[in-house]
Amino acid sequence: MALSAWAVCCLLGYLLLCGGSPGPSMPRLRLSYQDLLSANRSAVFLGPRGSLDLRAMYLDEYRDRLFLGGRDALYSLRLDQAWPDPREVLWPPQPGQREECVRKGRDPLTECANFVRVLKPHNRTHLLACGTGAFQPICALITVGHRGEHVLHMEPSTLQGGRGRSPHEPSRPFASTFVGGELYTGLTADFLGREAMIFRSGGSRPSLRSDSDQNLLHDPRFVAAARIPDNSDQDNDKVYFFFSETVPSPDGGPGHVTVSCVGRVCVNDAGGQRVLVNRWSTFLKARLLCSVPGLGGAETHFHQLEDVFLLWPKAGKNPEVYALFSTVSAVFQGFAVCVYHMADIWEVFNGPFAHRDSPQHQWGPYGGKVPFPRPGACPSKMTAQPGRPFGSTKDYPDEVLQFVRAHPLMFRPVKPRQGRPVLVKTHLAQQLRQIVVDRVEAEDGIYDVIFLGTDSGSVLKVIALRAGDSAEPEEVVLEELQVFKVPTPITEMEISVKRQTLYVGSRLGVARLRLHQCETYGSACTECCLARDPYCAWDGASCTRYRPGTSKRRFRRQDIRHGNPALQCLGQGPEEEAAEQVAATMVYGTEHNSTFLECRPKSPQAAVRWFLQRPGDQGPDQVKTDERILQVEQGLLFRRLSRLDTGTYSCSTLEHGFSQTVVRLALEVIAATQLHSLFPREPKPEELPVQGGLASTPPKAWYKDILQLIGFANLPRVDEYCERMWCRGSGEPSGASRSRGKLSKGKSWAGLELGKKVKSWAQAEHNRTPREVEAT
Ligand SMILES: *[C@@H]1O[C@H](CO)[C@@H](O)[C@H](O)[C@H]1NC(C)=O
Ligand SMILES: *[C@@H]1O[C@H](CO)[C@@H](O)[C@H](O)[C@H]1NC(C)=O
Ligand SMILES: *[C@@H]1O[C@H](CO)[C@@H](O)[C@H](O)[C@H]1NC(C)=O
Repeated sequence: MALSAWAVCCLLGYLLLCGGSPGPSMPRLRLSYQDLLSANRSAVFLGPRGSLDLRAMYLDEYRDRLFLGGRDALYSLRLDQAWPDPREVLWPPQPGQREECVRKGRDPLTECANFVRVLKPHNRTHLLACGTGAFQPICALITVGHRGEHVLHMEPSTLQGGRGRSPHEPSRPFASTFVGGELYTGLTADFLGREAMIFRSGGSRPSLRSDSDQNLLHDPRFVAAARIPDNSDQDNDKVYFFFSETVPSPDGGPGHVTVSCVGRVCVNDAGGQRVLVNRWSTFLKARLLCSVPGLGGAETHFHQLEDVFLLWPKAGKNPEVYALFSTVSAVFQGFAVCVYHMADIWEVFNGPFAHRDSPQHQWGPYGGKVPFPRPGACPSKMTAQPGRPFGSTKDYPDEVLQFVRAHPLMFRPVKPRQGRPVLVKTHLAQQLRQIVVDRVEAEDGIYDVIFLGTDSGSVLKVIALRAGDSAEPEEVVLEELQVFKVPTPITEMEISVKRQTLYVGSRLGVARLRLHQCETYGSACTECCLARDPYCAWDGASCTRYRPGTSKRRFRRQDIRHGNPALQCLGQGPEEEAAEQVAATMVYGTEHNSTFLECRPKSPQAAVRWFLQRPGDQGPDQVKTDERILQVEQGLLFRRLSRLDTGTYSCSTLEHGFSQTVVRLALEVIAATQLHSLFPREPKPEELPVQGGLASTPPKAWYKDILQLIGFANLPRVDEYCERMWCRGSGEPSGASRSRGKLSKGKSWAGLELGKKVKSWAQAEHNRTPREVEAT
């Protein structure tokens, strides 16, 4: 049987590729694009032309709108109404720009269009939008209306040059933030993409940029920008930029290395008076470290910053900085999430400046006298004390400005919380691109649920637990959600805690994805508990959203830390007692042939064990696997059945010490000799169903069917097969139809007979003890 051989081969291949014990970093639940759509977990907006070429997204929770910037267009979607109900504004490049861009050698399709890269709130009725303008950046104000209105149109009179506010390129990493009517950007601001700078513009003050004389920024890749207040004194407010740089090897060796940094400028920086005119006079930066301590002090460093998410607390002012890093080396590709406290970042900026006497020297802490006001400090009450007239950076002594220009880098790096990543992912099939975090209160504590956007259009939902005193965090991948139908890198992710929704953007478009859907985990307490999802708990009847403090405690069952249903689900629902009462399904196989018993547990993390209860045995024994009987990921594969394999097989899963019976299969092995007596030879045409009688042997096609059915035991249910092939709707045939001998009816009848014959004879086999079978 070629088919059988193929199946075995296929399964063995599967075993080699996918076998091994399922690791903890495998998601507990995988939901496909279709799964998500049909469960209303997600909805996708791809625009009127099937792809937005999305470059910017702004979630406006005040107006309940989502604004999108695409290629030559802007969109507004309402969050509070039927999704998506879009409004569109077309915004192509200025006349002639497209042609000019092509003439300068840029790609007409992928570069010479207006890719909208900035969408920021300007005031209560307007947004500021900037785009690449076919390599001639432009900005404009967009009327979006008051709260409750759903309008979107451009104000043509506000069109203006956008150099320094949007990059020229559609795809180059870029960060911006809007503070006090001014736009802060980290970008390269020229046609060739060489002039990297931090730029501020748009207010009544003259615009400010990085000093290009000094090498303050080394080929930066900007990832994020945000205003973060230092303390209650607004004069100290700073805008922080997160970026990676490529710098010459620090040990003076050849080549370059990638490092990641946090940089900052004062919001009230006005530049210098004689030096640093219209240049930042408060810019400082520090390295961000993210590494895993290894054996013998060797560290694995994650250098490249991929994304940053600021987790703002409900109370208090300081966000926690969640940063996603990657590392790519010849031997190793991995990702890590490190978390930084603002207090640690401030401490580094308050510490020593990095200094070296020449590029050939090693970096060390600056040991000389640091001028006053401290370089990098914002002008405030502290610097403007009586007798110290430093009310603006323009008043700062040249000495201070010269110092900050020569020492923009802090000596100490910023170390992550706990000194190590909260999450490390290696050997992933996908790359990680975006991070969003939600702080969730659960029954047994507070958890940071991490959503990671991959380069294949999916989102991973992960929690990182600190197991006891161990420094090693335990990671639980709760779900893998395929948000986009085709694999496409996730480029934007925004969370609305209010709506419990994630907005996920890729070049194609944007998806609205619910953070949780507790009923997906199953309808039993154990399944809910094993899911370990901080959003979900067993409420006594079903797996539902956990809301702290709102429901009667005794009815909430949740155990994120241990996922131990034995403890949590005692007496909750019938599944514990019923475990051994899962009804057994009959399956048939032929002696000397191969067969396959399938078992697909809900969670790929569960360990699967098979038990066999032979007729007449005391209790079930665990199935001994060898080269004849293989346990593969999807079931139990018998390469060559023996009659002694007859018995009831139960597939049980073990997860967090909790075992559950998934399926019970009663396997009947049909002896080769009996098969021959059943089908002694192929039937002759005159033996086909005839008038007035029953066929004693099935026609040729059926003979093949039944052999395939029994031999290739992946579809082993006689009843089901019979139903499908022969007994369709006919039931017990009437004498009339039998006597008329209509082929269709006759076929049904004969098929039914055959089915009965196989079953009764299998039943007879079943009633014999193994000893008797051996004796025959
Ligand atoms: C999904 O949402 C739509 C519209 O809100 C509704 O009509 C439909 O019944 C929902 N389907 C499911 C499976 O909840
Ligand atoms: C927002 O700014 C625009 C352009 O400057 C102006 O026309 C509009 O009146 C402003 N809206 C409000 C509510 O201030
Ligand atoms: C499987 O069963 C068919 C039908 O009895 C037989 O022809 C074939 O040789 C069997 N295969 C093996 C491996 O015994």
